[in-house]
Formats: sequence, structure tokens, C-alpha cells
Amino acid sequence: NNPPWPAFRGYHTYSFAYATMGHRLPTILGKAIDDVILTLNQESEEEHVKDLVECIERMDQLKHDLESHAKLRPIVDDGEADVALWNKEIAKYFQGKDFMNAPWLFAEAYKYRRLRECFSVSKYWKHYDVFFRQKCDTFSRSSDAVFELSTRFAEPFKHKEGMPDVDKVEAERLMFMELTQICLWGNSTDLSLLINMTEEQIKALQSTGGENLAATEKNILGNDMSRLWKVVNDLRANTGGRIDFVLDNAGFELYCDCVYADFLIQSGLAKQVRFHGKRYPWFVSDVTKKDWNWLLNSMVYGHLFPKATDAEMESLRRLGHRWKEYEREGKWVYEQHPFWCTGYTYWDLHSEAPDLFLHLSRSDLVIFKGDLNHRKLTYDCAAPPSTEFDIAIGPMASSAGAPRVCSMRTIKSDVVVGLGPEGDALAEKLDKEEPGWKISGKYAVVLLSDGRPG
Ligand code: F6P
Ligand code: MG
Repeated sequence: NNPPWPAFRGYHTYSFAYATMGHRLPTILGKAIDDVILTLNQESEEEHVKDLVECIERMDQLKHDLESHAKLRPIVDDGEADVALWNKEIAKYFQGKDFMNAPWLFAEAYKYRRLRECFSVSKYWKHYDVFFRQKCDTFSRSSDAVFELSTRFAEPFKHKEGMPDVDKVEAERLMFMELTQICLWGNSTDLSLLINMTEEQIKALQSTGGENLAATEKNILGNDMSRLWKVVNDLRANTGGRIDFVLDNAGFELYCDCVYADFLIQSGLAKQVRFHGKRYPWFVSDVTKKDWNWLLNSMVYGHLFPKATDAEMESLRRLGHRWKEYEREGKWVYEQHPFWCTGYTYWDLHSEAPDLFLHLSRSDLVIFKGDLNHRKLTYDCAAPPSTEFDIAIGPMASSAGAPRVCSMRTIKSDVVVGLGPEGDALAEKLDKEEPGWKISGKYAVVLLSDGRPG
């Protein structure tokens, strides 16, 4: 049940795996330790202080293991719902493997699980999020793009009086295309790549203007957006469908996802949206329930943007209130299945998390956001860029009951598929002309698989 292409590994010096395992992850851990020290320096209770110092010692050990390419050991039974899944995978496939020679995807996920363990075995700091400060800080420095969207979308979507039905559909199609791109490019603000971003860098990544969107569509190298519109437009005929988002990053990306999901509900294209987040801090910026609550509550009650005008703040509050109302009405549902924080790829989703697979198979469309989800869908292996998306995602397209799947991802790592018959030549050309094209986040794919409805 594996693809015929080799999975990327840390020792592949030609791939981003090498830089990540050798340099990026130790840097991320170092910054995480700095964050805990900040917290420690403001703690007064002796028992809490001692407990936190032990967390730091475990993090130091993890950093040492990572840097010395130590063998992967089982996860300690810390009561998390995913311990058995983790240890089964380690025992079955990765005994004796280390951080560099295990598949990159697994080794990287394993590092975040070990980081979790540093806190989950503690007494007072079980739920501590070493990335929370960074996530909040980046959102509060995103004011331009945040208000550009809130002032535009706070007013509920409605058609001009007396508009013929064909024009209404066309207006919705245009809005859908624009918001799909907003949702897609929201994935560029990923904190694991952009350590210490400046305000200018944030702005450049988040410019959401219309003209800019026409230009950026050219950078979507595999683009199934028109097919996607057809799928979603057909849902409405059945009085609206269920759309699932397998979320990626908190803060600005989540905000963009919500703007998109808001439109899907208002336009009647979807009657329910289910959001899938992580149970604990994951790949630096991924969404947890705490991040979800933080965003909605900051929008309604927060004082994050001291320079904003009253009208801007009011638009943000209106959006936030509406989104909270969706939650209360059950139109929006937040979920967090343990499988999302494991090292398995989605080639194993149907066998390792059959309950989740069944749950997703009842959805009309499952949108996977971001680079990590894309790596997991495609087994993070060296498939040729011309490989069809349906082939690249294996059982997620071919298993009985496989849901319709869309991957919306800005390209930030090696695996690239779904570029069409000329894809291999295109990738070769980009390799020569823009050597960093696979990690810059400048390019993207929006790929669709129809699945195998039961
Ligand atoms: O470390 C690499 C990676 O796992 C890549 O998937 C990507 O560069 C980043 O981390 C996460 O990106 P995203 O937040 O879009 O999944
Ligand atoms: Mg992420």
C-alpha cells in the first residue's frame, strides 16, 4: 500500500528535508526554549517553577537528540489519545531508525510529538503552548490585511435588487474564485518558515487586493478551481452541502479560511462547515482549539489593533459575532481527531483511523489546507510533477467511500504533483530558472479528486 517513489529523508542533501532536520528544527526548538524561559521568569510559585524547569530540561534533551541524530524511542504514555497510534507506527516501521534516516515526514512529526511530551508529563504545564505567543503576535501585526477583509466582508453577502438569476450565479462564481485565492494564499503566512518576520514581509505575503489576485492566479501551477466551483455550485441544488476544512495555520490563515467559510454559508453553497484542528501545538503555527477561541474572542472583545479606526474595529466585531453565531447554531463545528497529530500519511487514514475516514466520507468536499497536509496526502515522496493528483493520493482517492478531496497549498517543500502532462518539463525549467521555487511559497496548487463515493 505504498507509492512506487521513495519518501524524502533527512539525509537527502538535495531536498528540503536536509535543511529542515539539520537546521530549521533545532532553530525552532531553540526559540521554543526561549519562550518557556520568558514564562519561567514571570512565575512565582515554587512548585510551578520547579515543574517548568523540568520541562526545559526535557526540551534540552530533545534538542540534543535531534542534533546528535539519536534513535527514535517510543513515546511515553502520557495519557494522550494518540500514544498507541504513535508507538504502533514506531514499532512496525521505524525501529532502530534515527531523526535523519527515518522518512522526513515521520521524523518531523515525531519531533513535535516529543515536544508535546516535554509538557504532557508535567504536573502544572500539561497544556502549555510554546508557540502561542508567536501565533498571537503575528496576527496582531497583520492589521492591513485583516481590515482589508473585514471592512469588505462584514456586511452580509447579497445580490443587487432585481438581478437576473444568471447574473447572480456569475457574481457568486467570481466571488468564489476570489475567496478561494484568498484562502489559498493565506497559507503563505507560516511561522515555521518565517522565523522573525518583519511587518513589511507580513504585508507582502498578505496583500489580498483584486489586481494582485489576477497576477497570482498565474502562479497556481496545478489549478482545478473551475472544477471546484462546479462541485460547490452543484451542492446548492441539493440545498447546500457539508464542507470540511482540515485546517493548517492559526491567525491570519485561519481568519482567511473563516472568511471563505462564511461566504460558503451565506451564499447557501454549504449548509454546514466542519473545521478540523490539532489537539496540541503542531508544526509551530497549526490551529488548536485555543487558537480558534482566541481568534474569535479577540475579534469580538480584543484590543489587538490600537491604531485601527472605529469603523475597522466595528467591522471585525461584526464578523466575529456572526462566526460565533454560526458556532452556536451548529453551522460551523470545530473538531480535533487524534489522528491529525500522528506521523501517518493520509495513505493510511482509512486503515489507521477508520472512524475518521467514515466521518469524512460523509462530507461533500474535504478541503486540506497547506503544505504539511499536502505532503501527507501525497506520501511526501519523489513522485514526478506530472503525476495525476488522484494517483498521488492513493487510497484517499481509490478506497471505497473516499470523499471528494481538494488540496489548497502554497508550495513550501519538495513534493510537487498534479501539474499536468507538461508538468515534468515545467518543473525542470523552474529548477533551472528559480532554484528555490519549491520552498518560496510563491507558487501553489489547487487540486481536486472526486473520490469514490460509496
Ligand atoms: O518543515 C517543512 C514543513 O513541514 C513544510 O510542510 C512546510 O515548509 C512547513 O513545514 C509547514 O507548512 P504548512 O504550515 O503550510 O503546512
Ligand atoms: Mg502549518
